[in-house]
Amino acid sequence: MNVADSELVEALLKRESYKPAPKLEDADAIFVNTCAIREHAEKKVHSQLGRYRKIKLKKKDVIIGVLGCMAQSLKHDLLENKPYVDIILGPDSYRKLPTLLNRNQSDHSSQVDTTLSRFEVYDNLFPSRQVGINAWISIMRGCNKFCTFCIVPFTRGRERSRSMEGIVAEAKQAVADGFVEVTLLGQNVNSYNHNNNKFHYLLDAVAQVPGLKRIRFTSPHPQDVSADMLDTMARHSNICNHIHLPLQAGNNRILKRMNRTYTRNHYLALVRNIRKSLPGVGISTDIIVGFPGETEIEFQDTLEVMNEVKFDSAFMFKYSYRRGTKAAEYEDQIDENEKQNRLGKVIELQKYHTLERNQAFIGREETVLVEKVSKKSANQWAGRTGSNKWVIFNKEDAQIRDMVKVKITKTEGISLQGHLVSQAEAA
Ligand code: 5AD
Ligand code: SF4
Repeated sequence: MNVADSELVEALLKRESYKPAPKLEDADAIFVNTCAIREHAEKKVHSQLGRYRKIKLKKKDVIIGVLGCMAQSLKHDLLENKPYVDIILGPDSYRKLPTLLNRNQSDHSSQVDTTLSRFEVYDNLFPSRQVGINAWISIMRGCNKFCTFCIVPFTRGRERSRSMEGIVAEAKQAVADGFVEVTLLGQNVNSYNHNNNKFHYLLDAVAQVPGLKRIRFTSPHPQDVSADMLDTMARHSNICNHIHLPLQAGNNRILKRMNRTYTRNHYLALVRNIRKSLPGVGISTDIIVGFPGETEIEFQDTLEVMNEVKFDSAFMFKYSYRRGTKAAEYEDQIDENEKQNRLGKVIELQKYHTLERNQAFIGREETVLVEKVSKKSANQWAGRTGSNKWVIFNKEDAQIRDMVKVKITKTEGISLQGHLVSQAEAA
């Protein structure tokens, strides 16, 4: 999402004739687009800002701006403690950036805009993209779910969706610019709804864009996975057979306390339904350990659900205290060492599951989109299956952007290895 937002900001600045600087030290203005989801993300921004401050000590006219979610949530802290920050701009205010830049240049005062909008979706603004395989397309912004651990509803405001026409036009433009894959993005991507056109209508329309080899989307909420969505995925071979389905926790009391709106059994039934509708589907997830009040026994329920589902992959996090959220008010916060201990356990278990899932691919022929040169060897390509597994194989006559058939011969770490069988027609 931040890459997509940065591409919007770049487009806005280019419109005003600003140009990217070759090096950070050469820039007249430096912007950092920020994420506030966990403390770790914030720490990275603070250390970047330390770097920019040093540049400013040597070159006092350089303008420093903090954009995005941290600007929204830490405005007062930044104004008080980081006086070298000139511009603070929330995620709904990017359009104001050129005006604020001009103002700052004329009167050298701090410029702040963190107004949240009920309407801004940047619909008529084409992002400035680097040439590549995958184009990120933001289809909706904000979130109305209010999971009690999450800062997003506060930093990004209420849900709103872009028009289908705007999104389809952007997908067509992406194909014209050489992209072969799009990833539809939203905080809650499958609660997309524009003039009563729901997410599956949009998927259906995007899947019909000529030349688009692959469509992915992230992140859906389990509550909004509909039969229509699964049916649309099953009908279009260019919609990737992968669903990211954040579990967060496996215990009903904790799920309720998180305000996740589903129980463990709902979730498990949904997984069965997804696997029945989409044979061979890849399912990945997000897991939080050490949510306030989570007992050891409740934590075991998360391991149990993982054992039942056997996710293909997972992003696993220690609960991170976010000021202003409901969960920050809970008094039974879990000790940091205990959180670390639980995190170690979920990571270990997931490793086994990933390996087990990957081993089932050995001997199969998979359709792979050639995406880049493998990090391990210049003679090998790396590409993904529709189900989102990385596959490494010798280049032979395949080219980047080709859809090829690869016979899987072994697993290595989290990826698969194989050899080219043939060029495949569009998936
Ligand atoms: N602490 C830890 N993880 C969090 N996430 C969101 N908020 C927090 C938090 N306060 C995780 C959730 C979500 C993913 C994007 O980030 O798992 O699905
Ligand atoms: Fe945060 Fe996702 Fe929950 Fe929205 S649905 S509050 S973005 S975790």
